[in-house]
Amino acid sequence: MSAHTPTTTPGNLADHEALAARRLDAATWAYFNGGAADETTLRANVQAWQQLKLASRVLRPLAGGHTRVRLLGRTLTHPLLVAPMAHQRLAHPDGERATALAAAALGAGLVLSTQASTPLEDVARLVLSDADRGPLWFQLYLQPDRGFTRDLVQRAEAAGYEALVLTVDAPVSGVRDRERRAGFALPPGVSAVNLQGLHTPPAAVLQPGQSALFDNLLTRAPTWADIAWLRSVTRLPVLLKGITHPADARLAMEHGAAGVIVSNHGGRTLDTLPPTAELLPAVVQAVDGALPVLVDGGIRRGTDVLKAMALGASAVLVGRPVLHGLANGGAEGVAHVLRLLRDELEIAMALCGCRQLSDAASVLHQPTRT
Ligand code: FNR
Repeated sequence: MSAHTPTTTPGNLADHEALAARRLDAATWAYFNGGAADETTLRANVQAWQQLKLASRVLRPLAGGHTRVRLLGRTLTHPLLVAPMAHQRLAHPDGERATALAAAALGAGLVLSTQASTPLEDVARLVLSDADRGPLWFQLYLQPDRGFTRDLVQRAEAAGYEALVLTVDAPVSGVRDRERRAGFALPPGVSAVNLQGLHTPPAAVLQPGQSALFDNLLTRAPTWADIAWLRSVTRLPVLLKGITHPADARLAMEHGAAGVIVSNHGGRTLDTLPPTAELLPAVVQAVDGALPVLVDGGIRRGTDVLKAMALGASAVLVGRPVLHGLANGGAEGVAHVLRLLRDELEIAMALCGCRQLSDAASVLHQPTRT
């Protein structure tokens, strides 16, 4: 984000970021805000939304406008969901509980990470009875121990989660230079509690010339064939997160995905992937309305949300700004971040002459149009 003077009363998401940078220790900050390698994709995600230009239309009747969208059979008050993010108790002692309460209070969806630092049942129990909450989804990494994965899925189902978000873009961690330089390590008391009891297979004995990655870790990494397996052990819809290529979007459809999330993992996995604002249109085109297409990465303004909807997204996920809000004020901080984005979205719609998000396609400036 641009150079910014921190204030104590944040008025936008950049203010929240600047404030959180002062509150968190350097290693946690590197873990939260860093990306892969040279962080080209991390920066580009934010810039690409900024570089898209809007078109304003004036004197249109706007009364009765709204931000409602349809998603997986439900009407949502607005298209914002909290992206799955690991270890939120690093940001605030209330961690995922605070995030979940804030999301529910603001009608935003919540995707809980497999690597949450709070038991998934506790999070669900806090928000399930809130009639105005958004969707409650569980993010899954397929573990080599398929029995454990099946049990985890069944726990999520029993706890009341309404969809699974299978993250497919991280069979191996990215090259996290910033995190490594900062010496980030999880402090005592923060861990992936939902993975307790997970059996990690012993590392294979490698022959000279074999790769620790290709001949060990990746021999157990999920493939397209595992999507059928996952669907066979759950009645929940399965969305795939981390789709960036239109051919993979078509494969996702063929394998029965209920939706795809265009994501480059917030620039944390493969550096120099294009920003998601550039990747989204081809995926939307490939899916051709058959599935919802969500997007995340670099959404920092209401105008970014509107642009994503204009490019055909069904909803957007917000990542790091939620962690900033959490660090700054627990549930209140997260609520404030979501409220700011929602208010900015309404203002952007009004100033573009857009009464509802189904009309968003016309808000993008087309330089050649007369
Ligand atoms: C993530 N992300 C992530 N994604 C996922 O599928 N499972 C996970 O456990 C995590 N963990 C995680 C931790 C932290 C600290 C960050 C910042 C991100 C990626 C996340 O869901 C999302 O794709 C990006 O964060 C979106 O980009 P922005 O909004 O952060 O720019």
